Amino acid sequence: MYVCICEAVTENEVHACIAAGARTARQVRDITGAGKDCATCVRKICAILNRSTELVATA
Ligand code: FES
Repeated sequence: MYVCICEAVTENEVHACIAAGARTARQVRDITGAGKDCATCVRKICAILNRSTELVATA
């Protein structure tokens, strides 16, 4: 599923960024380009980042 329509970035790509060490929406943007156009997707990216850190915290 696409997270960022403008840059055609999928949720899987965001997860791959997080797995590679990205911890902020800015880092995800620098790697994938997601959020550098209209920025509508930034909240979705933050939600994915928050979910991933919660999973790490509870693991
Ligand atoms: S939807 Fe991501 S920059 Fe527009």
